[in-house]
Amino acid sequence: MQARILEADPEGYREAGARLQRGEIVIFPTETVYGIGASIHCPDAIERIFREKGRPQDNPLIVHIAQKSALAESADAIAPYVRLLADQLWPGPLSLIVRAEDRVPSVVRAGLPTAAFRMPAHAGARAIIEACGCPVAAPSANVSGRPSPTCWEDVLEDFGDRDVSIVRGEPTEIGIESTVILATGYPPRILRPGAVTAEDIGRIVGCCEVEGERLPGEVPLSPGQKYGHYSASTPTLLLDMPPVRGEDWLRRAQERRVRFAAIVCDEYAMRGENIFPIGSYDDPAEAARRYFTALRAADRMGMERIYVQSFSRRGIGEGLWNRMCKSAAGNLIKEEAHEDRIR
Ligand code: TXA
Ligand code: MG
Repeated sequence: MQARILEADPEGYREAGARLQRGEIVIFPTETVYGIGASIHCPDAIERIFREKGRPQDNPLIVHIAQKSALAESADAIAPYVRLLADQLWPGPLSLIVRAEDRVPSVVRAGLPTAAFRMPAHAGARAIIEACGCPVAAPSANVSGRPSPTCWEDVLEDFGDRDVSIVRGEPTEIGIESTVILATGYPPRILRPGAVTAEDIGRIVGCCEVEGERLPGEVPLSPGQKYGHYSASTPTLLLDMPPVRGEDWLRRAQERRVRFAAIVCDEYAMRGENIFPIGSYDDPAEAARRYFTALRAADRMGMERIYVQSFSRRGIGEGLWNRMCKSAAGNLIKEEAHEDRIR
């Protein structure tokens, strides 16, 4: 079975919407990452998304809407401050979790009393949802555990041989998934960092909490946080140290004849086909845009290890750091360490 390709033009968007309406699965670009979508009113298609991704049944999907008014129509109750956030930050890379038992089917919410809503900034994504005629549930279009897809070639790698349609769009602008915010009470709380930061939220509603790392055994508020994420099949190690120290580490690895690929800042001087520069240390937005695709490319080299250099944690840098930590599955190398340790 070959995936069916649709072009990213008005005709392609209309056709994508029609296929969603018929209960088919359509993969489409958003400004964050590509999503694998189904109409929220086609339970069979929603269930098939879980199967195609290999996604755990208890991990809910984000409901994508084309208009702000769809939030009030689909949610049970929203606090006034939630409207303020939607007014100022939508369309954009922000998902708001609110109570929604009545109008969002349980299979989309994975049985939770809440649902996450997002109105994407990508005009094509909104045209597709509009053409479908109802909200579209869409997790990131990667096989569970793999890096999220930021270009359509990444999508093909995971879903090219499946019974799905793929809208062939441009590489995504942001490159990491939306900021997920629990907005059922005040203050709102960030469950997954992204391009919209705690400062952005705090400026609008006065206060914003950030979900810290959970201790083993604690239940995460967002089911997605308990699963392995964004990983290459090559063991990945994150160099938790200033870039110059990271560079020393890589040189020593080279001397020890470790076969590695490395994702580095542009300032890093070493070059080679195994070295993937993704932007300047001080430009985490550029690095976020390119990280997942670089991780897939590094993985394809079939090396013993992938090393990842750290970037500035300002702005979207916090979200990038979060994805890097997850893709390294907690294998952080500190400055004072003497050797690689893989958990
Ligand atoms: O940028 C994005 O958000 C992309 C694009 C396609 O829009 N979508 C995306 O979806 O990243 P996904 O399924 O890969 O991530 C959704 C995250 C998961 O961690 C999930 O557990 C959490 O949001 N989530 C969804 N609904 C939730 C709810 N009701 N309560 C808590 N967490 C929820
Ligand atoms: Mg995902």
